[in-house]
Amino acid sequence: MKGNMQTRWLRRIILIGAVCLAFLLSIGGTLPALALVEEGSVYQERAIHHPDGIGKFYLGREISQVMGHMGAGWLERPTREFEEQPQLLIEDLHLKPADVVADIGAGTGYFSFRIAPLVPQGKVLAIDIQPEMIEILNEIKKEKHVSNVEPVLASETDPRLEPSSIDLAIMVDAYHEFEYPYEVMQKVVQALKPNGRVILVEYRGENPFIPIKGLHKMTQKQIKKEMAHVGLSWVETKGYLPQQHVMVFGKSGNHPQEERNLLPFNF
Ligand SMILES: C[S@@+](CC[C@H](N)C(=O)[O-])C[C@H]1O[C@@H](n2cnc3c(N)ncnc32)[C@H](O)[C@@H]1O
Repeated sequence: MKGNMQTRWLRRIILIGAVCLAFLLSIGGTLPALALVEEGSVYQERAIHHPDGIGKFYLGREISQVMGHMGAGWLERPTREFEEQPQLLIEDLHLKPADVVADIGAGTGYFSFRIAPLVPQGKVLAIDIQPEMIEILNEIKKEKHVSNVEPVLASETDPRLEPSSIDLAIMVDAYHEFEYPYEVMQKVVQALKPNGRVILVEYRGENPFIPIKGLHKMTQKQIKKEMAHVGLSWVETKGYLPQQHVMVFGKSGNHPQEERNLLPFNF
């Protein structure tokens, strides 16, 4: 009797296993990676992936889901001043009054509107892919009577920047969710003026104690790999923010021997 029960259970388990295997194989990919690589693509799609990700991988990193416009209030939370100390970052940008800055993945413009007073003869392009964020940006612009912030509705592959038009591209907590990081960054590189800079601010992926979801953090190593892939040279990493890396890049060839890491360790 007991033996019969065991055999029945064993058969059921084998059957369920076979069905799962057939399903996984039918949605593509080969075991064990279950990965689909389109020919000529820099991306890989995986059926089995992190629930916070989109199942698309770039140079070994899973791209995170986009933070929807419903999270706009979180971006403007009053505790952010204390938690992230954005003013330190703004002061450290060393902008000139006529600089043109692209704030890519601007969201509600938390940084765009703080940067704008530093470039009174220049402008800040506040770029986002969500029309709702663009509406919010336009509302705040009107409310604050700011004339040098220009909201720009981008596409997932194109930040809509003119070639050789920007002094700085800054991305704060945004790059990790770009669905087409390779295409976007290629456009950013084209849009940089000869001495233009790219500044990436991402939560430190090396530090498990930073209370942010894993796919919303990045390690220095991964960021350097992805920037090198589009021809950007790492210039320096600054460690003055409590939770984020501030990583500075320039066009390759412009910064051959300047590399220095101001962080004593990777946290
Ligand atoms: C977590 S929010 C950060 C917003 C802002 N930088 C801040 O720190 O308050 C990320 C923003 O990036 C935008 N985003 C995602 N993919 C993008 C892309 N390919 N191009 C431009 N913006 C993008 C999202 O719509 C979202 O508003």
